[in-house]
Amino acid sequence: MGSPVNKRILLGVTGGIAAYKSADLVRRLRDAGAEVRVIMTSSATEFITPLTLQAVSGHPVYRHLLDTDAEAGMGHIELARWADAVLVAPASANFLARLAQGRADDLLSTVCLATEAPVAVAPAMNQQMWNNPATQSNLAAIKKNAVRIFGPAEGSQACGEVGPGRMLEPVELVTLTSELFATGELDGLTVLVTAGPTWEAIDPVRGLTNRSSGKMGYAVAEAAAEAGAKVILISGPTALADPARVRTIRVTSAQEMHDAVHRHAAEANIFIGVAAVADYRPARTAERKIKKTEARLTLELERTPDILASVAALRPAPFTVGFAAETENLEQHARAKLENKKLDLVAANRVGADLGFASDDNSLLLVEREGVTELPVQPKTKLARALIRHVAARYRAKNSAPVHALRRP
Ligand SMILES: Cc1cc2nc3c(=O)[nH]c(=O)nc-3n(C[C@H](O)[C@H](O)[C@H](O)COP(=O)(O)O)c2cc1C
Repeated sequence: MGSPVNKRILLGVTGGIAAYKSADLVRRLRDAGAEVRVIMTSSATEFITPLTLQAVSGHPVYRHLLDTDAEAGMGHIELARWADAVLVAPASANFLARLAQGRADDLLSTVCLATEAPVAVAPAMNQQMWNNPATQSNLAAIKKNAVRIFGPAEGSQACGEVGPGRMLEPVELVTLTSELFATGELDGLTVLVTAGPTWEAIDPVRGLTNRSSGKMGYAVAEAAAEAGAKVILISGPTALADPARVRTIRVTSAQEMHDAVHRHAAEANIFIGVAAVADYRPARTAERKIKKTEARLTLELERTPDILASVAALRPAPFTVGFAAETENLEQHARAKLENKKLDLVAANRVGADLGFASDDNSLLLVEREGVTELPVQPKTKLARALIRHVAARYRAKNSAPVHALRRP
């Protein structure tokens, strides 16, 4: 079962009586954890005001395709890219016809054509309109184009007739929209993920750490859970809440992270080390706070255990993915890490003053023996899903290979 938490849902509202339910739908999607933006057709504005949907969504409503102000901000292509899913509810008979023909004559139909995100429609109309062969052939056409059809329900209609054509209730639409995110790519598998920084104590109040926020690792853990995996997340100190449907274990130091990982590595089919683990720690931790008495102070550092290499060296080893944050020579460093640590894949990203760590967006270069795949700049949540899709495909390919199969229970 997927989840709408942190998902970006673009709700299209078209001109039908059921548009009065759209405000409730927006509220319920937001209550379920989604971020919602609304596009209205011009007919829809005759049934419910943009002001209402602006108030409940917390964002201005998008209405016009040929609007220079809107195009300078979030224009039709940005909206299409922004969405994790597009839901049109209610979807009028007229809109279904436009979608079936691949028209791009208003903002909503254009965004539906321009998006890579899944598109779902919740038809709502008079039962004669629904049963009309023209509507049914439009439906068949849009189904063929992978558009999901939610409903409609049967029952008494606003026009006084009884039959199929009622829009599903908002609560049912929230459930169906959530299921759009359940890919099943990792069904039956266990994924172990590390995230965040580590903290290497110098004394009881000071320590060595780094700028990792944990956002990427948490997004990877969530994406793996969404793909159907049982997920264990070993997290260094972060300000983030435990992700839903993920077993989260909090640790502090590299040694603690190493030990926690090895307690769970045997049950993992896939290990993804996203944590920015300290390479060095103070050779000794002072028991009391170090006083400011000396003009100079030398800290002696020693190596921490190499978590990634130690997991990749297990027999059998899980499919092991490492992250490499580099300021330069991205592919070269990633390939060296892949070979030296005997990993299956290295996800490399460039970091710098304004890049990588605390930001919500990122890009990745996936370096494998077979080649390199680039995942362009996008929100970390989307990037994590793209990474999981890639890893799931590689895992399945590796484990269906007859000779080198490393199937784990
Ligand atoms: C009072 C009224 C109610 C309507 N209800 C519906 C409806 O429930 N479903 C539908 O498909 N069309 C309905 N229509 C017709 C659409 O509003 C009309 O086809 C419109 O062009 C749809 O435009 P849109 O698809 O761009 O939003 C209704 C029209 C009126 C006047």
